[in-house]
Amino acid sequence: MMLNTYYFKILDSTNIKASEFAKKGNSNLAIVADKQTRGKGRFKRKWFSGPGGLYMTISLKVDDILRVKYLTFIAAVSVSKTIRNIAGLNALVKWPNDVLIDDRKICGILAETISGRENYALIGIGANINQKKFPKEIADKATSLFLKTNKRYNTKKISNLIIKEFNKLYSQYTKSNHEKIIAEWKRYSHTLGRKIKAKTMNNTYIGKAIDVDYDCNLILRLKNGKMQKITEGDIFIA
Ligand code: BTN
Repeated sequence: MMLNTYYFKILDSTNIKASEFAKKGNSNLAIVADKQTRGKGRFKRKWFSGPGGLYMTISLKVDDILRVKYLTFIAAVSVSKTIRNIAGLNALVKWPNDVLIDDRKICGILAETISGRENYALIGIGANINQKKFPKEIADKATSLFLKTNKRYNTKKISNLIIKEFNKLYSQYTKSNHEKIIAEWKRYSHTLGRKIKAKTMNNTYIGKAIDVDYDCNLILRLKNGKMQKITEGDIFIA
C-alpha cells in the first residue's frame, strides 16, 4: 500500500490534521510534524511535543473499527523494529501500545477512529528521538534515542522506516491474519511474564501477565489463581 506523506513544521496535532483530511475523504496517508502545540496522549493526557521528537499519524480507511487495535499493535512493533535496526537498542512493546527502552518510554501510540459512512483509523505515533531532556513531570519515565546513544537522528528518515515496517505487517492485517500480528507483538513484549499492576476504568488488579489473547487483551493470573482479562487501561510493573 502506498501512503503519501505530508510534512509540516508545526501543527496543533498530527491526529487532528489527519482527521480533517479524513473528513474530506482523504486517507491512506501519513502526516508528520516537527512540533505540535496540542499533542494528545491517551486518556485525554497531554503529549509533550517539542522539537527533536517524531510526531506522525498514519491514517487509513478501515472496514471494521473493532480491528483497529491490531493496527496499534502493528505500529508499536514497527517502531520497535525500526529502533532496533537503526540504533541497535533493545526496544520492547508494553501493553497496550507503548515502546520502552530499559523500562523508560520512548514511544506512545494514540489510535482514534472516525466512523460514519466510511470508517477511518488514525494511528498517532509519538517517538522521542533527539530530545536532550524532558519536562520534569516525565523526566524519570521517558528516554530518547539521543539520550541512549549520544547520536542525533533524522526524524524524517525514521518516519519513513516506520512506515515501511508498518506496510509489511499491514499486509497481514488485510488478510485478517491476526495471529501473525499478535505473534510479532509477543516477540518484542516487555509485559509478558512480569508481575503487573493494571489500572482499569473501574478496578486495579495485580497479577502475572501470562498472555495476550487473539483480541489483544492482556491476561493476568491473579494471586487467587483466577485469570483476569484486561481490555483497557494502564499497566505498571508491580
Ligand atoms: C500515549 O502514550 O498517551 C500516546 C501518545 C501519542 C502521541 C502522538 S504524537 C503524534 C500523534 N498526534 C497526537 O496529538 N498524538 C499522537
